[in-house]
Parts: sequence; C-alpha cells; structure tokens
Amino acid sequence: MHLLLVILFFLEAQFCVQSSDSSSPAGENLATNGLPFPWSKVRLPSYIVPVHYHLLIHPNLTTLRFNGSVKIEIDVKNNTNWVVLHSKNLKIFTATVLDEHEAHLSDKVLSVLEYPSHEQIAIFSPKILTSGEKYFLYLEFGAPLSDGFYGFYKSTYKTKAGETRVLASTHFEPTSARMALPCFDEPIFKANYTVRIRRGPSHIALSNMPLEQTVEIGNGLFEDQFEVSVRMSSYLLAFIVCDFRSVSGMTATGINITIYAVPEKWHQTHYALEAALRLLEFYEQYFNILYPLPKLDLIAIPDFQAGAMENWGLTTYRETSLLYDPDISSASDKLWVTMVIGHELAHQWFGNLVTMEWWNDIWLNEGFARYMEFVSLEAVYPELKVEDHFLDTCFGAIGRDSLNSSRPISSLAENPAQIEEMFDTVSYDKGACILHMLRNFLTNEGFQSGIIRYLRRFKYSNARNEDLWDSLIKTCSEEEFTAGEYCYSSTQATKNAYRFAGEHIDLKKMMYTWTLQKGIPLITVKRQGRKLYIGQERFLKIVLPDDPSWHSLQEGYLWHIPLTYKTSHSDYEMKHILTTKSDVLTLDEEVDWVKLNSDMNGYYIVHYDEEGWNALTELLRINHTALSFKDRASLIHNAFQLVTAGRLSLNRALDLIGYLKSETHNVPLLQGLGYLQSFYKMIEKRNIADITHNLKTYILQYFRDVIDKQSWSDDGMVSDRRLREEVLSLACDFDYPPCLEKAKHLYNSWVESNGAISLPTDVSETVYMVGAQDDSGWAYLLEKYGVSMCETEKSKFLSALASSKDSEKLSRTFWSELKSCLDDALEPLILAPPLTL
Ligand code: BES
Ligand code: ZN
Repeated sequence: MHLLLVILFFLEAQFCVQSSDSSSPAGENLATNGLPFPWSKVRLPSYIVPVHYHLLIHPNLTTLRFNGSVKIEIDVKNNTNWVVLHSKNLKIFTATVLDEHEAHLSDKVLSVLEYPSHEQIAIFSPKILTSGEKYFLYLEFGAPLSDGFYGFYKSTYKTKAGETRVLASTHFEPTSARMALPCFDEPIFKANYTVRIRRGPSHIALSNMPLEQTVEIGNGLFEDQFEVSVRMSSYLLAFIVCDFRSVSGMTATGINITIYAVPEKWHQTHYALEAALRLLEFYEQYFNILYPLPKLDLIAIPDFQAGAMENWGLTTYRETSLLYDPDISSASDKLWVTMVIGHELAHQWFGNLVTMEWWNDIWLNEGFARYMEFVSLEAVYPELKVEDHFLDTCFGAIGRDSLNSSRPISSLAENPAQIEEMFDTVSYDKGACILHMLRNFLTNEGFQSGIIRYLRRFKYSNARNEDLWDSLIKTCSEEEFTAGEYCYSSTQATKNAYRFAGEHIDLKKMMYTWTLQKGIPLITVKRQGRKLYIGQERFLKIVLPDDPSWHSLQEGYLWHIPLTYKTSHSDYEMKHILTTKSDVLTLDEEVDWVKLNSDMNGYYIVHYDEEGWNALTELLRINHTALSFKDRASLIHNAFQLVTAGRLSLNRALDLIGYLKSETHNVPLLQGLGYLQSFYKMIEKRNIADITHNLKTYILQYFRDVIDKQSWSDDGMVSDRRLREEVLSLACDFDYPPCLEKAKHLYNSWVESNGAISLPTDVSETVYMVGAQDDSGWAYLLEKYGVSMCETEKSKFLSALASSKDSEKLSRTFWSELKSCLDDALEPLILAPPLTL
C-alpha cells in the first residue's frame, strides 16, 4: 500500500508541475507516517477550491470532546490525485472522495497524510480528479474541545449559586478554523456553509445563519439545522452551544438583532441591543448596501481572548465589550461598548462582504473597522463626542511608527505566527489615521462614494491594497475631468491624475507612500517674510540627527503629503501637496503665526523654527481659542514628541503648555497632563523625595482649578464625565488632600452600607483605589471581587487591588491564586494511574 502511494505520488508530481503553485522537490517534506508529503508550501495549492461545506458537529459538554463530519464540494482547476487542505490537532477518522453523483471514487479507505508544521493534511485519490469536474470530499473527525481561546473551545462560568456551567464556542480568525474542521483555511477560498449542530435539550445552538429546523434524533439529542450561508471566508464561520438568555429587536429594514449573555447577566444586554439596531441601520445607509443576512447576533462569551470578533451574523464579544449595567458602568464603559459594536458591525461590510486577498492586507479590514467606529458614532451618537478620541488613535500609531522597528501597513506575513502579528497598532490605528487623512483630502462625499464603489466592485470576493485606490475615484471622460473634481481622466495623458487644489495628483502613488513604506514624516517649517521653507524627513525617536546611522535611516524615504495650514490672517484652511523633499510656499501676506496640519487631519509631525514655536506659544498664552482644541492638542503632542526625539528642549515644551491653567477642553488638558504624569513617574522611580514632592506641587498647580471644580457625581455630558474620571484619579494618585478625603469618605459609606449604596460610576474606580490603600479596605474589595456578577465592576476592583502600594500583600495574593490554579491543573495528573512504559 505504501509503495503504491509513493509511486502514485511521483506520478502526481507531474500533474502538480502544470500548476503554477508547485515547486515541491520530492522527498523534502515528510508526513507524520514517514511518507513524502506532496506539498511544500505554507499556502495551499490553488488547483482545488472549495465551493460548499456541509458541516455536522456535535460538542459533548460532559466529555468535553467534539465529533464532526464535513462534506466539501470542490472545484478542480488542474488534474491531480491529491487534495491538500488545513487541519490542526484533529483526529481524522475517515476520508473519502465522491463524484458529482456522490458515488465513491474508490472502494478503499483513503489514506490521509499529515504535515503538522504546516497544519496541513493531504488525501490521496487513486483516481485522478479531473479539471472542470465537480467532486465531494467527505471527512469524519474529532478532538477535545480546545482548552485555550482559539478553534472550538470550552468556556465556563459560575452562577450566583456557585454552580459551574460549560459552553462551547468558536474563534477562528486568523488561522484556527482548521482546529474545528478540516478546511481550506485561507481568506481567498470563499464558500457557502450549511451547518448542523447536535446538542442536549437544555442548550441552544447558534451559528452564522438563522435556524431552519430542529430534529429530535433520539438519545435525548436534538439536531439544529441552519440556513445556507452567503459566500464567505472560513475565518468567519462560527458556532456556539450554550444555555444563554437573550433580548431581540428588529431594524427598520427587517433584520432581526439578538443579544445573548449568561442568564444572570441578561439585564445588562439592553443597551447593546439599542446600539446594534441604530448602528446597523446607519451602516446600511452609509454604504448604501443592505446587510445581506436575515439576522445578526451579538453574544457575550465569559472566556474570550480578543475584545470581540466579527463572525458573519454571529459576532462574539468579551463580556466587558458588550454588557452595560446603567447602575455600575461608567461613561467610558458605555463609550467602549458602543465603539466595539460600531467596529464589529463595520466588519460586516469591510472584511465579511469584501475580504482582503491575503493577511498582508489585513489593514483593509481592521483599519477600516477602526475608522468606521468614529464615523458611525459621530453620526449616530454625537453626544458621546467620539471625535475627542480620534487624535489618541493617531498618537498611539505615531508612538510605534516613529521607531525603526515599525513596519509598512501592507507587509509580508506567511505563517500563522506572522499573520497573528499583523493585528497590531499599525494595521488598526495607522490604517484608520491615513484613511482619515484621505477622507479630508477627498471630502466626506468623495470618500463615501469611493468606498461604496469599492464595496460594490468586490462584494462576496477579495481585494488588495491597490484595488482600493483604483476604486476610490471613478473614471471619466476628458470633458468631465476638466469640469468635475472627483474623477480620473480615461485618456492616457492624464490617466490616474486627480485634481486637488488645482494640481494633478496620482492618488495611487500617493497612497502607496503611506501603505508600502513604514514610518511617519516630520515636516520642518522655516518662515522668512511671506515665504515658508518646507522640508520633509523621516521622524525617528531614539536615533538623534548626530547619530552615524541617521542618514542611512533616512535614505529613500519620501511621502506625498497633503499639507494644510492656517495663519493669523486666514480663518480657513490652505492646501498644498508636498511630493518632494523640500518646497517653498508663498503666503498672500505677512502673518504673525502659521499652524500646519489643521486639526491634525494629516499623519505627520510638524517642527517649526525658533520664531515659529515662540509665536504659537504666545498665541496659546494670550488667546488659545484662536486655535481649535485639536490644533492645541496636536501642538502639545508634537512638541513633546520632538522632545523625546532630541529636537526640542523640554523647557520649550513646558513653556508651550504653560497656558494649560486656562484650558478648559478635556482633550488638550489630558494630553498635557499625560506628558506631565509620565515625567512624574520617571522621577518618582528615582526615589528622591524632595524632587518628587516639588514636581507633584508643580503639576498640581496647573490643574488645581480644574480638580476643585469637579463634583463627585455622574452629572454632565460624556466629555465632562470623562474629564472628571481622569482628573480625580490623577488628583488622588498625587495624594491631593481634598481628593483623598472625599474618596475615603465615599469609600467608608459604601462599606458601611455593605455595597448597597451605588457610588457615582465615573469615580468609583478612584474611590476603590483610595479604599484599597489600607488592609481592611483591601480585604473588603477582594471579597467583593469574588462575588460580583458584573465584569466591568470586577475590572475596577482588580485595578484598585493592584494599585495597593503594599507589594508584599500583592505577591502573597498572587502566589496563593497561582497555587490554587496549579492545584486544579495538576489534580488530574496526580489522580491518574502512573504511566506504564
Ligand atoms: N477581527 C478582530 C478580532 C481579532 C483580533 C482576530 C486579533 C484575530 C486577532 C476584531 O474585529 C477586533 O478588531 N477586535 C478588537 C476589539 C475591537 C473593538 C477593536 C480586539 O479584539 O482587540
Ligand atoms: Zn476588527
């Protein structure tokens, strides 16, 4: 039998040679049974593509194992005897290939080769599978429910009565569908899925699509059959067996939305329902494409590694990302839940309907979903003032991107570990920031119509970086081009040119400089009379300009930068596109000051000359509202970034924020405060008591007015509430006596009422932190942590417990917790009979 396989493999190698994917020299890769594995690449061959999966799966919540079968309709593109697909940690019991009439191609049991380091299996069909014909691959398999957070995994929760209950849930993105079923686990292989799930009577089963019918199959088991899915990638498949409760509602367009949670947290699901209904309706309008499934579920899973996951029709969440308790959750908790829902619902279009061809372009999913959080919330929940936080997203991206270890937005990723690494601040936050820059450049309407064109062109299919740029602007005739702003000319001469402020721009070329090149540009500005001398270079922290490696790290870097600026004599934005290393702009008249990068809508840092910084510092001091709050925050950010890069003195930056005593907007205030706080933390670590004390007094004098103005309540708009949360937390952290007193007082009354009185939600964490500083307060919080049924509350208890300055107590608790975990884990080993060799 083995000899036959080897001979047939050599025959097959010839078929493979015809396919462009094949390069596997025979004998290089050995399967687990010692035979040559017919495929040597991490990515699957493209000569077999899945069309339709029929999946039956039965998780047994008592034995904690699952068994399943899958029949995959496949299309053969090139003649071959081998089917290579993904499988990880699955035991394959049977493998068969059927013809289009579902008749067995061979009466023998087919052997399955396994190649675990590529998470692949290969099935050999003695009969050649011919190109253009339809076949079915049938496999039976099983495995223990995974113990981690990927694949088909076990999750547990405790009821108030102390009973532990089990559920089984999936998380597949990016490469774990192969842990739950053998499949072609790459985003390009879109297929339809028909799912059946077996379960006991006290559980429900959920999957991407609505339930079609339930059949009682005997032995106290039920089989739920779900409708056929739309064409989608394997990482979006999901199924869950649990005993949850739910609330439902319907959108204006008839989509059924349901929120699920463990039964005792059911009352925390109502806010998510309202948000999901409103946000789904928003996206249907904004994208001008209806959500294609009849239902959308949002489910809070007790054990969940990521924040949330966008499985089509069955989105999964960490409890803190979905559940909201009006009596306990703070304004920030509400904002977080709304943003997470906004993110996962955006993926139903960006990611699910149009998917990146390969993981190197994951930013097309994540960058868009991150950006749409802001676009959707701004439209649907203006009172949440989400735009206040957008700058933080870009500041986060800049932090990473100003190190030489950063990477381009689109970058190579082949194996699962590299793919996992792509889900980082570059894909998410830099992606969102350059989309924001592009939107400001194209105008809101231009951007919206462009992305609608992209979604329509690639729906139920896959796209790459360049497809987005090609779709963003419509093609038009020379006449239309001359008359209209937003089109590419179809004639050769001006092809790909797009008009911007009278100039011809190649949008694709421009966006490549942001997506294929790592780093962030620094714009330097020198003003002489009416002339502005502008230069661009790569902004790098740590490496100073006098470092010998500085020049080589700059080499080859050039961006096409849409510049915007305001001056003391213009209250509107001026625009210019910089495509060279340096340029000179001429202003209409002499001005007192110039501020580049209006509202920080562009992804670049600006460094002015001595006079430039002086003029802006002076402007902030006398009339800070002449600049928008975003301009103020971005000046503070840029100045401190330049300090860390050794380009500006700390004194200059401190001068700039001298005006903060009269600042009332939370964004620049918190920006300045953040830098002072990190400065303080550095000094505090050095343990020089009087310097630490002086610095504390110095910082407090900036913010005393703002702190004293705060009430210990939940009153006001979300932005006021978030400012209160931050400022009071800082004041108590700095041991500001009035803050400590008030917090201690609130903590004592909370303890006296045995947790019955509800603390103002926005300050509760600060109150717990102050309470945790003495032994009895700490012990009481630990006890409350053990019994709370609200995850957001638990996380506040936890940070308060961790904030204790008594490090010995912390490590004692840590070790006793660890010991009890280890005891639980080791118990089965201790009870198991000794191994016989
Ligand atoms: N698609 C991701 C989930 C994911 C993250 C899968 C990492 C694989 C690896 C999801 O849409 C997501 O982005 N989740 C975020 C939370 C969200 C609010 C930004 C997460 O999990 O951090
Ligand atoms: Zn996402």
